[in-house]
Amino acid sequence: MTTDLKEKAPLGRVIVITSGKGGVGKTTSSAAISAGLAKQGFKTVVIDFDVGLRNLDMTMGCERRVVFDFINVIQGDARLKQALIRDKRLDTLSILPTSQTRDKNALTKEGVEKVLDELKQEFDYIICDSPAGIEHGAQMAMHFADEAVVVTNPEVSSVRDSDRVLGLLSSQTKRAETKDSEPVKAQVLITRHDPVRVESGEMMTVEDVLEILAVPLLGVIPESQAILKASNTGTPVVLDQPSVAGRAYEDAVSRLVGNDVEMRIEGERRPGLLHRIFGRAS
Ligand SMILES: Nc1ncnc2c1ncn2[C@@H]1O[C@H](COP(=O)(O)OP(=O)(O)O)[C@@H](O)[C@H]1O
Ligand SMILES: [Mg+2]
Repeated sequence: MTTDLKEKAPLGRVIVITSGKGGVGKTTSSAAISAGLAKQGFKTVVIDFDVGLRNLDMTMGCERRVVFDFINVIQGDARLKQALIRDKRLDTLSILPTSQTRDKNALTKEGVEKVLDELKQEFDYIICDSPAGIEHGAQMAMHFADEAVVVTNPEVSSVRDSDRVLGLLSSQTKRAETKDSEPVKAQVLITRHDPVRVESGEMMTVEDVLEILAVPLLGVIPESQAILKASNTGTPVVLDQPSVAGRAYEDAVSRLVGNDVEMRIEGERRPGLLHRIFGRAS
């Protein structure tokens, strides 16, 4: 029979964007990474797991087009196709928004798995934008992940929370629970990096962060006005005018799909000027 001979397309990869701490740049990174993948021609869907907050649709600029959402699909009130929103800029990009319900337990493991299994048939990449914390919502976002992007700011509290999340990724996920399966492939994405504050000792260096977390580095995204501007207008930064931050996300996306891209650590502000004026104490 022809169907037996037909080669099956590989299933899509599920990537969770997680961190532990809130406000570090998960939603910004989910938007930029999913748009970056779609720009490269990969069929990509980005899912908002942050039930109650519902930020992703605004960051992607599609909040007015939300009719049904992830929770409606899980609860059987809508079909997946009715809830998916096709991006107006890239036809390879879709968004699955969430609801503003207060009921955090609306995300069930069975429901999430069913939706992801269906999406894996159609998309190359499924990006899961996690809520903050390490409770139910964050665990649902990471449970079925093949890979994780751990978003970390170069400061002690963020690094500590990322370290906790790395612990959960290696113990509480489906891959961790399934004998003989590869562990979740985790990489760290350092965001809001400011070379001036690193230079002055207010911020941790990239090396310090990597020494503590001990996972590969996916990229370094600078603290950037371009990101604030882009997210206020509902434009993922890689689809906006060229910027240092947009380029840093494009590089990270290239690494995510397996290309070997040289690590550039660029800031919008450069260290040196104050340094040159005031010099160093030593
Ligand atoms: N690299 C950056 N430079 C400047 N502001 C940023 C950067 N990344 C994120 N932000 C801002 O920080 C705030 C929190 O980002 P968000 O992506 O919503 O974090 P999270 O999803 O982790 O809570 C937003 O106002 C966002 O615009
Ligand atoms: Mg968020």
